[in-house]
Amino acid sequence: MSLNIRKGLSLSIGELFLYIQSNIPHLSKAASIDLLSFLVNVERKSVLAKLKEPILIDERAINSIELVKKGYPVSYLRKNHEFFGYEFYVDENVLIPRVETEVLVEEVLKNVHKDKEYKILDICTGSGCILISLLKNLPNSFGVGIDIDFKALKIARLNIEKHSLENRGFLVNTDAFYIDKCFNTRFDIITMNPPYVSRNSNYSSFIKYEPEIALFTGDDDLIFYKKMLFILDKLCKRDGLIFFEIGFDQSERLKLVYKDKNVRFVEDYFGNKRVMVWKN
Ligand SMILES: C[S@@+](CC[C@H](N)C(=O)[O-])C[C@H]1O[C@@H](n2cnc3c(N)ncnc32)[C@H](O)[C@@H]1O
Repeated sequence: MSLNIRKGLSLSIGELFLYIQSNIPHLSKAASIDLLSFLVNVERKSVLAKLKEPILIDERAINSIELVKKGYPVSYLRKNHEFFGYEFYVDENVLIPRVETEVLVEEVLKNVHKDKEYKILDICTGSGCILISLLKNLPNSFGVGIDIDFKALKIARLNIEKHSLENRGFLVNTDAFYIDKCFNTRFDIITMNPPYVSRNSNYSSFIKYEPEIALFTGDDDLIFYKKMLFILDKLCKRDGLIFFEIGFDQSERLKLVYKDKNVRFVEDYFGNKRVMVWKN
């Protein structure tokens, strides 16, 4: 839609939606609706019912559109992201939860009993999306999320409070490589979605706004998985379950690293092996 978006322009919400869709082609339809709801200050679920209503373009709208055109995530503008059906506070201090991570949460829930009491450890917790989604579905369980980044943990804390899980969800600021020194207990379920993109990869140039510490390893993209191989035996109960998110091209190499464990892989919606699972 060729429209010169400028301060003071009056148009309908529907016209603004068409503008977004044709001028920011990298946005999915869902993200376009998210952006629209942010720009017009109307709840996401009601915005499409208001397409005929007028809106006056102001400076905030112009700046936001320009940012999103450059690739700034709409979820950071809204300070909100939906994951596994729950709302999470997000900002530039945390990775925006990915849809493939929902596969991990789903796989955990398929392998446990809803009403049992589990002790869960979520390594590299970030926004807390994995831990919180699990605790919401396992009402008798308790969990700890660990992260090296204190700023990320502050967001995880906000999300634990948002979901009223203060009595069952706890956080520890520590380096994953030394977690065996942190706990004198063993866990029933261990989850981890670590950084797994090598700094040398092409992918690194696409990420401009999310925290580097959440995505990138040094040269070795498998470093977290290699280190955990030796640490987790001390942290996981016998017969405990371990679930790691992995990169789409890592399963064959990880099979070799974990050759002495009976690992299996779970595919995402595109058929890529994205979760590695085994029983201790
Ligand atoms: C890929 S993000 C995952 C965040 C969240 N669990 C999710 O699935 O959206 C990885 C997280 O690992 C944390 N991290 C990076 N290096 C770490 C380390 N050595 N020890 C603990 N956490 C680390 C980052 O701060 C970041 O929050």
